[in-house]
Amino acid sequence: MSTTFLNKTALITGASSGIGEALALQLAQRGCDVALIARTQARLEQVASQIKGFGRKALVLPTDLTDAQATRSAVHTVLDTWGRIDFLFSNAGQYYRSPIAKLATELLRQSMEINFYSHVELVLSALPAMLARRSGHIVLISTMDAKKGIPPDTPYVAAKCALSGFGDLLRQELYRSGVEVTIAFPGRVDTPMIAHLSVPWISAKISAERCAKAILRGVERRKAEIILPPQALLLYYFQVFAPRVADFAVRFFHLEGWEHSGRGGL
Ligand SMILES: NC(=O)c1ccc[n+]([C@@H]2O[C@H](COP(=O)([O-])OP(=O)(O)OC[C@H]3O[C@@H](n4cnc5c(N)ncnc54)[C@H](OP(=O)(O)O)[C@@H]3O)[C@@H](O)[C@H]2O)c1
Repeated sequence: MSTTFLNKTALITGASSGIGEALALQLAQRGCDVALIARTQARLEQVASQIKGFGRKALVLPTDLTDAQATRSAVHTVLDTWGRIDFLFSNAGQYYRSPIAKLATELLRQSMEINFYSHVELVLSALPAMLARRSGHIVLISTMDAKKGIPPDTPYVAAKCALSGFGDLLRQELYRSGVEVTIAFPGRVDTPMIAHLSVPWISAKISAERCAKAILRGVERRKAEIILPPQALLLYYFQVFAPRVADFAVRFFHLEGWEHSGRGGL
């Protein structure tokens, strides 16, 4: 087994649920100590107790990441406690949908706060210590929607595209700094975030565990970008070479899915 994560430290945001929780548990199983950030303390405590069951240390840091000062303070707590952050998984996020014709800019701002600015704040808080040590790996969890947007996800997609752009420049600016950057672009994942959404067979939800495993494999290989699952790559290639064909595929396969919230779909 690879020793990439053995006796290392990781900070994961959105660790109380879904992909973040799965990343936390798999990292602990591979010998990593894990600091956990989300708002729901009780859920973080449950994840922490499982991490301790694997014989690793866990730090529970209940934090609202839309509060920049609280975010900085949580990062400094990890640095003060463990002296370093080897892996930073910037994963917390929320899903916002609205057709553009009905878009309230306030909703867009809300999405930008959690899906973009909170990630920037987290990275800027952790980066100086990584640069000083010339070591560290930043992993940004974007979404396949940032490679090919699906209506009516504008508030979510716009913020995730901003995050992907930030990550792309971050990786280039950190060239030869000793700090690695990986951006993950998962397709549909079976987590509470999209529990209200049924999706077509071609974009079937994968488990959070499978998603986390693929992300960690990509991080071990120091990949710049991770697109998953494999069929998402096909849509991505269509988007690059023939965007209207990709538009057609989105419509034809109903990639927006069907909401079962009693509102009769999208
Ligand atoms: N599920 C998918 O299909 C999918 C696909 C591609 C990418 N993603 C991305 O993967 C990431 C994880 O999503 P998930 O699917 O695992 O969803 P999830 O199960 O709903 O988890 C979201 C996590 O973010 C945390 N969070 C939300 N707002 C927060 C805030 N203001 N401050 C601190 N923590 C906050 C939540 O914890 P609290 O509520 O306790 O704060 C939770 O731990 C997101 O960035 C999402 O965009 C998901």
